[in-house]
Amino acid sequence: MKLTREVCIGGTVVLVCGIVAAGIAWALLRSLDDLPPPSRQTLPVLDWWEHCVLYQVYTRSFKDSDGDGIGDLKGIIDELDHFVDSGVEAIWLSPIFESPMVDFGYDISNYYDIHHEYGNMKDFEDLLRKAHVLGLKVLLDIVPNHASIESEYFQNSEADEPEYRDYFVWAEPVWTDMGNETIRQPPSNWVSLFGGSAWEWSEVRQKYYLHQFAVEQADFNFRNPAVMDEIINIMKYWLDKGVDGFRLDALPYLVEAYPEDFNGSYPDEPLSGISKFSSNQLGYTIPIHTKDLLELYDIVYEWRKFVDDYKIKNGGDTRVLFSEAYANISMTMLYYGDEDGSLGTHFPFNFGFITDLSDKSDARDFVYTILKWLTYKPSGSVANWVFGNHDNKRMASRFRDDMVDGLNALNLMLPGVAVTYQGEEIGMRDGYVSWQDTVDVEARNRGNNDTYLQYTRDPARTPFHWNDDMSAGFSTNENTWLPIADDYTEINLAQQRESDTSHYKVYQTLTCLRKEPTLSHGLYDINTLSRETFYLIRRLKGHDSYTLVFNVGEEEDEVDLSRIPQLELPARVVTASVFSEVMEGKSINQSNLTLRPGEALVLKTSPVTDC
Ligand code: FRU
Ligand code: MG
Ligand code: CA
Repeated sequence: MKLTREVCIGGTVVLVCGIVAAGIAWALLRSLDDLPPPSRQTLPVLDWWEHCVLYQVYTRSFKDSDGDGIGDLKGIIDELDHFVDSGVEAIWLSPIFESPMVDFGYDISNYYDIHHEYGNMKDFEDLLRKAHVLGLKVLLDIVPNHASIESEYFQNSEADEPEYRDYFVWAEPVWTDMGNETIRQPPSNWVSLFGGSAWEWSEVRQKYYLHQFAVEQADFNFRNPAVMDEIINIMKYWLDKGVDGFRLDALPYLVEAYPEDFNGSYPDEPLSGISKFSSNQLGYTIPIHTKDLLELYDIVYEWRKFVDDYKIKNGGDTRVLFSEAYANISMTMLYYGDEDGSLGTHFPFNFGFITDLSDKSDARDFVYTILKWLTYKPSGSVANWVFGNHDNKRMASRFRDDMVDGLNALNLMLPGVAVTYQGEEIGMRDGYVSWQDTVDVEARNRGNNDTYLQYTRDPARTPFHWNDDMSAGFSTNENTWLPIADDYTEINLAQQRESDTSHYKVYQTLTCLRKEPTLSHGLYDINTLSRETFYLIRRLKGHDSYTLVFNVGEEEDEVDLSRIPQLELPARVVTASVFSEVMEGKSINQSNLTLRPGEALVLKTSPVTDC
């Protein structure tokens, strides 16, 4: 580990980024085995984003600079070195725009300004400038599906101002005759993701408006060209400031069934038939009219065209779009657009490790889930791997503590972009947040004192652990917007930086190792070695090969390394799980290897010298 790290700090490894032709075909990479030895070999140059380490900053919980207990932009500026030190190359910030914070920034009231608790425009411009000086790319999180009901768009629309009248999805009520009275009802049985009807009555406008998320998050009407223009305007505004791209939120919900296609009324969703759900609970219906509608992809493709044109007109590096969509694999892949991924977003986030795997998964499940993405992915597009985010339990809590290093190794050694949610680099776990302290709108709407833990996203959002000072060094305030997790004295960055062996040190070793051509350009092979252990090998002719062996099981496992095709022993241990008894630098000569529960080893083999 130390060797690799020194090489990296010494700067002998050149960052693979810069001005490059986009869309290098993975198919091309697969034939690199036939290339001549390194001295005569020119590897395709990758665009800055194609093999970057992308880090999600949950702005509210990253670092508080002014002692109000809430993370802010100056806090991020103060800690920019952390990204460089970690080997992170790009960051995306959860929404920083003006917001009443019903859904902590995912309810935007002004897309053109900074939320006051986070700072001001000057702070943002400073952040961007300083990040760029350090070679970091900065992406913003745009929420195109809905705006806050406190936005001017909604206020004007509710007031029936002609220019904004059709900005949102408004519908007449359905009147039902109940004998002695007529009852006003929503136009369809659509259910909000946060519980209750997706329709809310507006006394002002005397119509219902649609909200697929909270009542305070009104869905835009994307059939109105003015809305399309406005979203493009918003993107242009931030691109003009210099941002490097966007994470696009909640795209499956952009478009809903249109009454014109259903005899003038909104069609009901079919019922799931699952008896435990009542009619106002998510799961009661099957969302065929409100999710994954094909029309939405054309909108997304227009956005891609816009950012590509922006680069043509303004020069500079590629501006990227990364899309968020929890959808089945076919609908997810449509976000790439075409075979080389140049029509749609640069990639849709790959949530396989979140939705398809857990602490119950064995090696077969891991291999299957990884190959599923690589198999369905358009051949010329770039893969990516997400292990956690602000909506799901943290990686260490969804899997097991002892798997942290293996999971980070997997993330950083697989082909394509590695995505890290803040805290994963130090193996942070979910914090405990009582019902009284719960602020997540999803948990408050859908749960109660007994059930909220099924829904709450607060535990994954507790503040980052910088050190073991009060409030984990996140804030000088004892009272933080969410409580600090109890384990901060045990798991924090300062301690892990000081220690010779830590999750953070493993993470650093691997982000450094990623710069090796084998990991940016090499072939991959992945398969099981046993029910609980699998391998991932990366190879590139004329270069060192790197192999991860990872026991995801809860028992010790003895495996036979000779079953890994192309792995020639002896191999040298580059890094290992923090609790491993195998020393870094150790030479492995024998093919039988015993791995402890959760143990991962990264091995290096050098190419046989060509005569
Ligand atoms: C992901 C998400 C959530 C947010 C929702 C609505 O689905 O980013 O965090 O609550 O979209 O914007
Ligand atoms: Mg603050
Ligand atoms: Ca919508």
